[in-house]
Amino acid sequence: MRLLPALLLPLLLTIPTAARPPEPRKAVEAANGMVVCVSPPAAGVGVAILKKGGNAVDAAVAVAFAMAVTWPEAGNIGGGGFMMVAPPGKAPTCVEYRETAPAAAGPTLFADGRVTAYSHKASGVPGTIRGLALAHGKYGKLPWKDVVMPAVEMAEKGFTVTEGLSWSIAWVLASPTTTNAEFHRVYDKPGGGRWETGDTMKLPDLGRTLRLVAEKGADEFYTGEPADKLAAEMKAGGGIMTKDDLAKYQAKERTPVKTTFRGHDVYGPPPPSSGGTGVALMLNILENFDLKKMGRWSPEANHLIIEAMRRSYADRARHLGDPDFTTIPPHLTTKEYAKKLATGIDPTKATPSATVAPEIPLAGEGDSTTHFSVIDKDGMAVSNTYTLEHSYGNRVVVRGGGYVLNNEMTDFNPVPGVTTKTGQIGTKANLVGPGKRMLSSQSPTIVMKDGKPVLLTGSPGGRTIINTSLCVVLNVVEFGMPVQEAVDAPRWHHQWFPDVARFEGFSAHPDLVQGLTNMGHRISPSRQGDAHSIWVDLRTGRFHGAADRRIEGKALGF
Ligand code: DON
Repeated sequence: MRLLPALLLPLLLTIPTAARPPEPRKAVEAANGMVVCVSPPAAGVGVAILKKGGNAVDAAVAVAFAMAVTWPEAGNIGGGGFMMVAPPGKAPTCVEYRETAPAAAGPTLFADGRVTAYSHKASGVPGTIRGLALAHGKYGKLPWKDVVMPAVEMAEKGFTVTEGLSWSIAWVLASPTTTNAEFHRVYDKPGGGRWETGDTMKLPDLGRTLRLVAEKGADEFYTGEPADKLAAEMKAGGGIMTKDDLAKYQAKERTPVKTTFRGHDVYGPPPPSSGGTGVALMLNILENFDLKKMGRWSPEANHLIIEAMRRSYADRARHLGDPDFTTIPPHLTTKEYAKKLATGIDPTKATPSATVAPEIPLAGEGDSTTHFSVIDKDGMAVSNTYTLEHSYGNRVVVRGGGYVLNNEMTDFNPVPGVTTKTGQIGTKANLVGPGKRMLSSQSPTIVMKDGKPVLLTGSPGGRTIINTSLCVVLNVVEFGMPVQEAVDAPRWHHQWFPDVARFEGFSAHPDLVQGLTNMGHRISPSRQGDAHSIWVDLRTGRFHGAADRRIEGKALGF
């Protein structure tokens, strides 16, 4: 790993993920298919599925299973996520496989501070396998077994450790929060020492779980031997999830949030993610201004971007949660509402966050997710984000099951009624409830032009995710940047509270920082997300894959 600026070091202590080549990458061009993801071996699996005649959903499902093996920091079968699918000639749909709270969970689960993020109680009921099965069953072409087996083989026979994985695994094994004996049994290097680039890692228990899923189907995970193992793990570790919770878990197909922006149609995941709504609301606000004319790095344009973020995140706190439990007001994505918010922005001065949602009483933040993008020769497109919440979730490996559990329950609002200036939210819409999905920020996005996908993007990064997707979409659609430049460009994050705008270009754009400070903004440096994206050149039909240089990653086309 290269030397990183000292100010990034505190972040790196909480966000692992390894070798981040600082040099710019080049977009990869191809005509017949493209996979862009964090894990090079998983990208290889996806392209092999495409070459075999699989479509983008087959490849995406195979990549998701492969990353549960090769990128355990966030790739998973013990977590959940959102898969946006654009079938050729049709509007995109959303396969939602967010985790749910177990039946025994109540609104005060975290309130007394005794349930920690690294405990069994922090796990929601995993959604990934039912989600991948739903997507595959409805939109895939190849047999189920064909898309799961590459992951089985890598886990059973072993796969080559990449530089990124070697750093990531060294980080988690050294972390004081990694105390789970099974985690160490599974991931410590046999014979001791550090996992090095080029080593072969075998994960036999995970191989067995995946083989059962490949041979018997997704239900096996929720009702068969793996479900018994998970229920036993919960019992032994003081968790509250039961076999009944597992059996009841359902993935859902939902209608995406859609908006228009400069002649494009933009689709993102609906609640229980706040991603699609957030991106749509911000684009709707920003289309009222000519940002391009102001200039990408002008204080005027970036002031408006920050103000749109501030307003959108206040509405996220106000209204968003699991739509099966909470009524989501329809005005959030209307052009009229966005225009009203746009009109309220002072073009010369920052709006204090405390005045944006004064009705929410104020009193006195997760690490890993991963996004990948896939497109096939027929233009079927997949934009998928899935997560364990923190890197390696709650750092618990299910005994004998070989996989890491999520700690997604920490995405619920922890203390009812307590919203703080530091960013903790306590509003009602996202309190813990039995069988409820916790609010997500995952924002896998598909931008269409004339009915064809033109941009696929998304990112990890907790609440910053929505703004990362926004920045990439703005960079391509508003500012006309080539996709790699759009992905590499410094990103902004403002989330209403804390009332600070975080900026990756803090050192590179001092005049901009000064200009915004003069307008009353507080700005701090940051590092934000990794957005593995695909842009389609609609004139030539060629795919341009951009792996984010902030992390290991691979754009692989053919
Ligand atoms: O679903 C969510 O919004 C969060 N659990 C995502 C966490 C995350 O992105 C952490 N990654 N860097």
